[in-house]
Amino acid sequence: MMILKTLSIIKPDAVKKGVSGNIISMFESNGFNIVAMKKIHLSKKQAEEFYKEHSARPFYGDLCDFMCSGPVIVQVLERENSIKANRDLMGATNPSESDNGTIRKMYGDSIDNNAVHGSDSEESANREISFFFSDLEIC
Ligand code: CMP
Repeated sequence: MMILKTLSIIKPDAVKKGVSGNIISMFESNGFNIVAMKKIHLSKKQAEEFYKEHSARPFYGDLCDFMCSGPVIVQVLERENSIKANRDLMGATNPSESDNGTIRKMYGDSIDNNAVHGSDSEESANREISFFFSDLEIC
């Protein structure tokens, strides 16, 4: 099994609720090494660029408005099989369909306000990591 990197975002709803520390703790207790992390407030343009693959979807406008409604915490997580492991830990996109013990079940309120984002493939992880971080910022 390969050690892989994945991009995680703690979304504005979870940052506002003050649960980002709990979420970071869940990453660490599930074997993820946090090799880069920062708190930023995305502009609308940055949110649109980050989520451009969803630009034709009906929820795109609301998603971009939400993602720039407050600060987010972005991290690069490293672990064996990290992309799938993080998606398992996050749970289903819609918190009401997530398994107990997952981040979205514990901290998400709706499919729009679902606490966290995680890369869905190696290709997305590479693009998303370089969207937020330079090589120099990754330990
Ligand atoms: P995320 O993993 O950040 O990827 C895109 C986001 O769009 C997703 O989480 C959801 O918060 C949001 N979204 C809203 N409606 C939908 C939908 N019907 N299907 C998928 N994602 C949706």
